[in-house]
Amino acid sequence: MKNLAKVKRLLANPVFPRASKYDPAWILANEMGPNALWLAESLTEVMPLRPGMRVLDMGCGRAMTSVFFAREFGVTVWANDLWITATQNLATLREARVDDRVFPIRAEAHALPYADGFFDAIVSLDSYHYYGTSDTYLAYFSKFLRQGGRIGIVVPGLVRDIKGNVPGHLARPFGKSPPFWDPKECGSFHTAPWWKRHWAATGLVEVESCALMKDGWKHWLRWDEARMAGGGGHSGFPTDAPAIRADRGRYVGFVRMVARKPLA
Ligand SMILES: C[S@@+](CC[C@H](N)C(=O)[O-])C[C@H]1O[C@@H](n2cnc3c(N)ncnc32)[C@H](O)[C@@H]1O
Repeated sequence: MKNLAKVKRLLANPVFPRASKYDPAWILANEMGPNALWLAESLTEVMPLRPGMRVLDMGCGRAMTSVFFAREFGVTVWANDLWITATQNLATLREARVDDRVFPIRAEAHALPYADGFFDAIVSLDSYHYYGTSDTYLAYFSKFLRQGGRIGIVVPGLVRDIKGNVPGHLARPFGKSPPFWDPKECGSFHTAPWWKRHWAATGLVEVESCALMKDGWKHWLRWDEARMAGGGGHSGFPTDAPAIRADRGRYVGFVRMVARKPLA
């Protein structure tokens, strides 16, 4: 790998000691966006996971976070994704030696094959914003969670609402990098208060915590610097670093939210 020492240094993030133990080459080979293991570890600061729990990892991509949850917390995971097939993810899970407790599933978010009330916890990292912003989605999604169980997500989001035009530093290209702001994707970025209202208004869950991830933009920048130092990672996306650096956490970060489905 290009610049292995630099990649290792950047991925050894003291804020995320569990994630920092994982092989940088494995992370770059399986990444599909800002370091999913950091997002996962951040989520577990506010969402308890106990050994033996049945966990749905929704939109798991290449299943890195499913491996992480199984290894670090002893939970059993259903690694659900759409773009990545179950057969592809099974290979990753076998290689990581967790295929006895992480089960790959390919299913679309609106056509999930699970029994009502099956999961003790549902997690979703850098994925829920793709399908979960409609007013009715949580009513469907939360039925797979048992009463008293929790749903936790971390999504890229907004620090403040954008009033009027998208700010210039997010809307314009930087050198060879296209604009950060792709409306097809960033149109689903919202603030923490937006997400809290979005779930609380359903009356189906109690939002226990919902806030911007501390220093989220700095982690995003560090991740992107690591990815580019390592040759661009699996995604090969152009770098986001110039836009994130110019933004300095004024607009873009991560929202972390956990809600509990009340007991009857
Ligand atoms: C940006 S990737 C993040 C993947 C992974 N969580 C990670 O952080 O590495 C978004 C993931 O959401 C999943 N996704 C998007 N739309 C979906 C849908 N309608 N149903 C199920 N999964 C979906 C994709 O398959 C993709 O793997």
